Amino acid sequence: MGAADVGLARFDVVYCSNVYQLLEPAARAVLCAAVRDRLAPGGLLFLSNALGARPSARGKGRAVPGEPGSFVEQTYLHLCEREELAGDFGFLELERLDEIAYLEQRPVGAPHDHVSWVVIGRAPT
Ligand SMILES: C[S@@+](CC[C@H](N)C(=O)[O-])C[C@H]1O[C@@H](n2cnc3c(N)ncnc32)[C@H](O)[C@@H]1O
Repeated sequence: MGAADVGLARFDVVYCSNVYQLLEPAARAVLCAAVRDRLAPGGLLFLSNALGARPSARGKGRAVPGEPGSFVEQTYLHLCEREELAGDFGFLELERLDEIAYLEQRPVGAPHDHVSWVVIGRAPT
């Protein structure tokens, strides 16, 4: 049963910025299911997925057994590969799936570097 069957609102746009990498597998699956169920036909998902607040964070911390790319340092972090994101959001027509690097300004202190995957996908009509 999908959103249309139970009268739930659908959205033209879903925006999810740099949170996906913090979600454990079950929560990532819940997010994907919500996007699938609640994005209107032709609607757009904009999702960014940080590879870690710092590229140097990659591989730091305790590896999570059975979860390639997942580490716990101070918090859980899952570093997605391109194929994984393409699969997770394979129910959308992917218009963009690339890595971007940028400097994030902070109110205090030096800006810090980020590298994020950017996913733009359109729900089938
Ligand atoms: C890297 S920040 C991104 C914040 C904001 N979305 C942005 O792009 O500027 C990650 C945010 O995810 C939140 N967060 C951490 N774990 C979460 C979880 N399991 N579910 C939802 N949000 C979570 C944190 O509190 C934090 O605000």
